[in-house]
Amino acid sequence: MNNAQKDKAFIWHPFTQTEGLKILPVIKHGKGALLYDENGKEYIDAISSWWVNIHGHANPYIAKKIALQAKKLEQVIFAGFTHQPAIELAERLVQKLPEGFSKIFFSDNGSTSVEVGIKMAIQYWHNLEKPKTKIIALTNAYHGDTFGAMAVGERGLFNRPFESLFFDVEFIDPTKPDEAKLKFEALAATNQIAAFIYEPLIQGSGGMIFYESQLLNELISISNCHSIICIADEVMTGFYRTGKFLASNHLQLSPDIVCLSKGLTGGFLPMGITTCKGFIFDAFTSTDKFKTFFHGHSYTANPLSCSAALASLDIIEKPNFDMLIKGIEQQHLKFLYLLKKLPQIENPRVLGTILAFEVKNEQNSSYFNNIRDLLYNKFIENGILLRPLGNTVYIMPPYIITKKQLKKVYNIILEVLSSL
Ligand SMILES: Cc1ncc(COP(=O)(O)O)c(C=O)c1O
Repeated sequence: MNNAQKDKAFIWHPFTQTEGLKILPVIKHGKGALLYDENGKEYIDAISSWWVNIHGHANPYIAKKIALQAKKLEQVIFAGFTHQPAIELAERLVQKLPEGFSKIFFSDNGSTSVEVGIKMAIQYWHNLEKPKTKIIALTNAYHGDTFGAMAVGERGLFNRPFESLFFDVEFIDPTKPDEAKLKFEALAATNQIAAFIYEPLIQGSGGMIFYESQLLNELISISNCHSIICIADEVMTGFYRTGKFLASNHLQLSPDIVCLSKGLTGGFLPMGITTCKGFIFDAFTSTDKFKTFFHGHSYTANPLSCSAALASLDIIEKPNFDMLIKGIEQQHLKFLYLLKKLPQIENPRVLGTILAFEVKNEQNSSYFNNIRDLLYNKFIENGILLRPLGNTVYIMPPYIITKKQLKKVYNIILEVLSSL
């Protein structure tokens, strides 16, 4: 076949209806909180490019560190070998994690960090020869797009074609604390539950749903009494998104497994980390080869991703870093005050660097609500990248966003709301 007969390449984008697809902006470069398309149009990235980019686009320090690492070692198999960036990253992360977390397992992204967490929990019980496989998760949860991660997520339109293939999961609704606690207690009492997985305090893709820390403390406490392994999916909430290093740091009780990704590399390169407490690791420490954790990805602990994560930690550990987080939160809180007076919206809320609210409308609040496209397009026209989840509008900016840029985001939101 010669070249003339070949089809034109078509890129199949995620979460994008292919019928009637518009021409997408071609992003040529980024700087700080800004993205620039090929026509020179500027966009404020108010969602940190799917919640990953915490230190700004093309951050020169992180870029330099990756380039230096690329000249030394770009990749090496991580089974049977190790390398300095992974060792240093593990050591430095452990300093920041809650007490008891010292075991670090690398993978490639948020979904795989969750898969690893679920597999660790289930194999833990298998290795102890007390097999249990049932999991408790939260309604409206989102944990990723691989099969295990989908199975513990909300059973909705996104994963309907696959639903018959999912394993057994019990769901409780964190927005109905009394009911949730009762159901959780009853399930825990069956002694059949291997693990409880949750997005701590805020359910991201489910619609930036906030729920009470008291409920989560109680559920973790019940789990501890019944030896249920608690898996905190901190893929979105980690790395100061909610004001503290982990959202779990807002709680009195800590989980047994934590899943990390997104902000981990400052938004430069894909990487996932699943960290667990010693008692879980101990169940895999055996002369019996069948107790090994047989899970590994080609790019596990890629040295370039590790160097990006190390550079990101360097920035996080700078003395004034927490002022950035507090500054965004304070600015959000002032805007919240204003939002509370608007009749077109409801339930405005802030946690750390996240601000969210719902736009009132006749349709239900699902992701497929038409108002979502209308809002998205209006924001884009005005040079703001905001990606509403149905009628839920949220801001989750890079931490280096300037006061002026954030003010512009607020102003455009107000303009768009008043035009509805
Ligand atoms: C809480 C949570 N877990 C897991 C994931 C999946 O991460 P990834 O898209 O990197 O696979 C996401 C992505 O949005 C998330 O918000």
